[in-house]
Amino acid sequence: MSQDAVLRPHAEQQFAAELAVLAEHDDRPRPPGWRLSPWAVTTYLLGGELPGGAVITPKYVGPRRLMEVAVATLATDRALLLLGVPGTAKTWVSEHLAAAVSGDSTLLVQGTAGTAEEAVRYGWNYARLLAEGPSEAALVESPLMRAMRRGSVARIEELTRMPSDVQDTLITILSEKTLPVPELNSEVQARRGFTVIATANDRDRGVNELSSALRRRFNTVVLPLPESVDDEVAIVARRVEQIGSSLELPETPAGLAEIRRVVTVFRELRGGLSSDGRTKLKSPSGTLSTAEAISVITSGLALAAHFGDGVLRAGDVAGGIVGAVVQDPVSDRVVWQEYLETVVRERPEWRDFYRACREVS
Ligand SMILES: Nc1ncnc2c1ncn2[C@@H]1O[C@H](COP(=O)(O)OP(=O)(O)OP(=O)(O)O)[C@@H](O)[C@H]1O
Ligand SMILES: [Mg+2]
Repeated sequence: MSQDAVLRPHAEQQFAAELAVLAEHDDRPRPPGWRLSPWAVTTYLLGGELPGGAVITPKYVGPRRLMEVAVATLATDRALLLLGVPGTAKTWVSEHLAAAVSGDSTLLVQGTAGTAEEAVRYGWNYARLLAEGPSEAALVESPLMRAMRRGSVARIEELTRMPSDVQDTLITILSEKTLPVPELNSEVQARRGFTVIATANDRDRGVNELSSALRRRFNTVVLPLPESVDDEVAIVARRVEQIGSSLELPETPAGLAEIRRVVTVFRELRGGLSSDGRTKLKSPSGTLSTAEAISVITSGLALAAHFGDGVLRAGDVAGGIVGAVVQDPVSDRVVWQEYLETVVRERPEWRDFYRACREVS
C-alpha cells in the first residue's frame, strides 16, 4: 500500500526524514540496540536545531526534565510507565519514544479487560499444533516476544485495564528478561535494547490496580496537563495543523484567537476558576483534556471548510465545546449554563461565542 493512502502513518514513517538526519549528526554513544543516542532521542521529542541547520519539530511540549528521565530510564534495565490523566500525550510520547529508540513503534499490546495471556506471552497456531505437535513453527509470537527477540521497545497501552493475572506475567519478563516456553522446553532471552514502555490512566486507577511487585519494576513518569494557556494553545495549534493537512481539509486557517478561546474555556472549567481569578466555577464530569480541545477545533475546521465561509468562527466550535462539556445531560448542563451566564456573557469580545452557544445549548 502506498504511504499516501495510509490514514495515519506510524511515527517512524511520518518523521523518517527527521530521524535520519538526527542519526547522521549523532556522534554520541548509543546504548546497545539503540538507533540513536539518548541525547538525539530527547532532541527528537522536544525539537531543536542541528548544527547543519536541519530543524527537528517538537513532538512533546512540556518539561524537558520529564523526557530526560523517561529516556534515561529506557537506557537502564528498568521499564517505563507513563502515567497521567487522559489526553496528556502518554500514548503519543510512547509511540515517539519507541520510534526514536528502536525505529519501530508497532510492537504494541493494547490492554483491555479482555487481554489474554497470549497477547503478552505467545499463542499457538492450532492447525499446526494439532498436525505437528508443539514446535517453533506452531508458536505465535506476541509483540512482546518479538521485541525481546529483536532487542526493541515493546509498548503496552492502558496497562491497568488488563486483568491482574495477565499483568503479572510481565514480572518475569521484566526482571529475568526471559520468556520461558515450557511446551518446547526452551525460552526466549531478550536481546540488548529490549525494554517496555507502558501507559496507564490516572482516572482508571482502581480498575485493576498495579501490583506492587510490578510497580517496582517500572520507573514512573507522570505527564502533567499543560502548565500555561500559551503552552496549551501551542500544542493544539500544532496538532490541528498536522491533522488538518493529513486529512487534506480545504485550506482553513485556524485563527489562534479561536483556539485560545476554546483552550481558555476548557482550562477555566477544568480548574474551577475564571481566568481573572474572580469567579469560582463548578467543574463538569468530563476531563476536558488537550486532546479534546484538538478534536473540537478539528471538527470546527471541517464545518467551516465544508459548510461555512472557510474561516473558523464561534459557531463552528460551539457545538463541539458543548458536546465535550455536557457529558452528563443533567448535572453538566447546569454547570455549563452557569458558566455561560456568569463568565461568557460578561465578556464583550465573546458576544459571538455567547450567541452561538445559546443556539446549541
Ligand atoms: N504536552 C503535549 N505535547 C504535545 N502534544 C500533546 C500534549 N498533550 C496532549 N497532546 C496531544 O494530545 C493528543 C492526545 O494524546 P494521547 O492520545 O497521547 O493522550 P493519552 O494521554 O494517551 O490519553 P488517554 O489516557 O485518553 O489514552 C495527541 O495528539 C497529542 O499530540
Ligand atoms: Mg492513551
